[in-house]
Amino acid sequence: MDKFAIEGGVALRGEIEVSGAKNSALPALAACLLTEEPVFLHRIPRVRDVRTMEKLIAYTGASVERNGGPLKVVAKYLAAPEAPYDLVKTMRASSLVLGPLVARCGRARVSMPGGCAIGTRPINLHVAGLEHLGARIRQEHGYLEAEAPQGLRGAAVHFDRVTVTGTEDLMMAAALARGETILENAAQEPEVADLAALLAKMGASIEGAGTSTIRIRGVERLHGAEHTIIADRIEAGTFLIAGALTRGDLLVRGCVPEHLHALTVKLRQAGVTVEESGADALRVTTTGPLRSVDMTTEEYPGFATDLQAQFMALMTQAEGISLITEKIFENRFMHAPELIRMGANIRLDGRQAIVAGPRELTGANVIASDLRASASLVLAGLVARGRTVIDRVYHIDRGYERIEDKLSQVGARIQRVEAR
Ligand code: EPZ
Repeated sequence: MDKFAIEGGVALRGEIEVSGAKNSALPALAACLLTEEPVFLHRIPRVRDVRTMEKLIAYTGASVERNGGPLKVVAKYLAAPEAPYDLVKTMRASSLVLGPLVARCGRARVSMPGGCAIGTRPINLHVAGLEHLGARIRQEHGYLEAEAPQGLRGAAVHFDRVTVTGTEDLMMAAALARGETILENAAQEPEVADLAALLAKMGASIEGAGTSTIRIRGVERLHGAEHTIIADRIEAGTFLIAGALTRGDLLVRGCVPEHLHALTVKLRQAGVTVEESGADALRVTTTGPLRSVDMTTEEYPGFATDLQAQFMALMTQAEGISLITEKIFENRFMHAPELIRMGANIRLDGRQAIVAGPRELTGANVIASDLRASASLVLAGLVARGRTVIDRVYHIDRGYERIEDKLSQVGARIQRVEAR
């Protein structure tokens, strides 16, 4: 397994480019299954999870090709509306093909995702929603067997709790259902609105995406389209925090400032200067001392849970006590013990982490446990005194495109150490 070796202590300076959003690319690829015509997707990031999703839709029978230009998907014949365990076990977002396959083929056989490091992450709300649309779903041998031989019919679906991919799954299924579907308590993440924009280009009739109530009027069939996905707000936020943490002067280009509002507010409260530079860039500098601020993760437009680990790394360098509350997942503090090994003062109490700073971090051998925890360890390595070696960086490759190259270009001393 590859490792990262980082020599800390360099202030990051310069311009860093944000890639397309992984969490937009995944539902966009699943949406291609809804039509037999070609779909062209631009700005799809070359990350591990996207490659897994490409394999998954190819397994069902779609052709997937990318030669230098946009990603082209043609799902003309779907001979095997299935998502096998060996693919699903590596990426739980595979459940995003459930709705499209049932809607397009009238049936689907999708492996249950199984456990995940950050929490149990069931997909009961996806299943309940599809059953509301008339699908019959049973669970057998670790697989969900879904059928809708007469197709799906529109219905009112209320999500017991906000679910991003649950909203996306149902939006895709409803696009081909007979009649109107209303999704209540829907996720408002920008990636949901981006998926709705793609579906609309394919001929779907969707209103309210990006709000908590989405109305979808089903159509007979969807056609091909061309779409550029939005910037990755989590990658952009990770870089903003890197710039603040290393007391550099970093221009994060190709992002959507509005999507980063909750983070920007917290950074400014912590004494970080964040300035908009044109419509698609944010500049981050830190001159004075960092101040501790409390933070609670919430569904969008609240503070993103996917930036919690990175923000915790920043708070280890801030003066005072920061109370971080993780409200979305039940086990998303696995970066904390590794940060403590580097010298951080963090106390965990259920869903809360109390961070006391500033504490000098020193380089150490650490292990990545999940995608965003590994990003947090990279950030800590950038500011630690001495050398940090992070093992199992395949976690970070799931959601960050060439992060070591991008950080090196703005001065970081980071190298990938290929496993023998
Ligand atoms: C999406 O995951 C993102 N992944 C996650 O990003 C992100 O952390 C999460 O939303 C929250 O913002 C993609 O978009 C591919 P949820 P998702 O369904 O949809 C519970 C990353 O780092 N729940 O919104 O799986 C669930 O257990 C990844 O890029 C149910 O109980 O998250 C969680 O506690 C990590 N039943 C809460 O809802 C369900 O059927 C929110 O989960 C579905 C979810």
